[in-house]
Amino acid sequence: MKKLLVIGSLNLDMVVNVDHSPAIGETILTDRMELIPGGKGANQAYAAGYLGADAVMFGAVGCDTYGDILLNNLSAANVDITKVMRREDTSTGLALITVNRDGDNSIVVISGANATVTCEDIDRNMELLEKSDIILLQMEIPPSVVCHAAKLAKKLGKTVILDPAPVPGTFPEELYAYVDLMKPNETELSMLAGMEVTEETLDAAVSCIRRKGVKNVLVTLGERGVYLDSEELGVLRIPARKVCAVDTTAAGDAFTAAVAVMLARGKDIREAAGFANQVASIVVTRKGAQSSIPSMKEVEEYFKQQKS
Ligand code: ATP
Ligand code: RIB
Repeated sequence: MKKLLVIGSLNLDMVVNVDHSPAIGETILTDRMELIPGGKGANQAYAAGYLGADAVMFGAVGCDTYGDILLNNLSAANVDITKVMRREDTSTGLALITVNRDGDNSIVVISGANATVTCEDIDRNMELLEKSDIILLQMEIPPSVVCHAAKLAKKLGKTVILDPAPVPGTFPEELYAYVDLMKPNETELSMLAGMEVTEETLDAAVSCIRRKGVKNVLVTLGERGVYLDSEELGVLRIPARKVCAVDTTAAGDAFTAAVAVMLARGKDIREAAGFANQVASIVVTRKGAQSSIPSMKEVEEYFKQQKS
């Protein structure tokens, strides 16, 4: 099986459940806050490890208890955390998350150690890139570092998967050419393509990304499933499974990781996206980020039960 390397963020999520997302100037009372391991990079690594892949996490946390919690959780999912850097002069990344009664979230990330990852860190750990086959990147570490890592990975002939979230103010144009598979949601696609994305404009927005050099684009559409435009298979849609969503946090991260896990097992992108769609449909029925991600055994059992 091919080896996965996730280069990205690790955050401890501070999650509050609210009836509705607060409007500007509004104060809302709630009775508790939960601490849940998260961060787009760590969520992808956790999902990859928990779904049975050979996964390595690269990033940075502080020398604090929050960093310990995040690393222990990744280890429990069989993710190799030996190369995650511990920073003495800054704290572990934090995410402040509100989840409303429809399961939709709003997130503010305090980057902390994630913002300290540098191109030199990547260069010092070249052997990680060399030993891996599929590299997963997101945008919660500095965009210049993401671009540098993607460029090196491409040069080494690796498969580069990019979740462009959160889309930075200035997205490095150069990055597109290094990406084999990009997974935006509709909002991210709209920001990157510079146009409103509706059912009518989806094709045009994705074509715009493909023209910039991305070979395969998988757009996640929440309860409407997935849109795939791939070099080999052309355009196709995969509908979402009908489930009762309680919290969509990390659905996109688990989706991306599940695609990578299936590509690592030699499946084609259509099969990979179909499997990822199933994994993500389980994630949205559970609360939290890493707490909501199923193991491969759970996925198999879940769908066995659905069939019987
Ligand atoms: P995140 O909340 O992690 O940022 P995202 O915005 O990147 O997620 P979405 O498009 O919301 O990504 O969801 C990713 C995938 O999760 C979807 O393509 C689908 O497979 C699944 N999914 C999300 N919402 C639902 C839902 N309500 N019902 C069934 N599946 C869902
Ligand atoms: O994609 C979900 C993640 O976004 C959360 O776990 C949070 O940490 C933010 O990074």
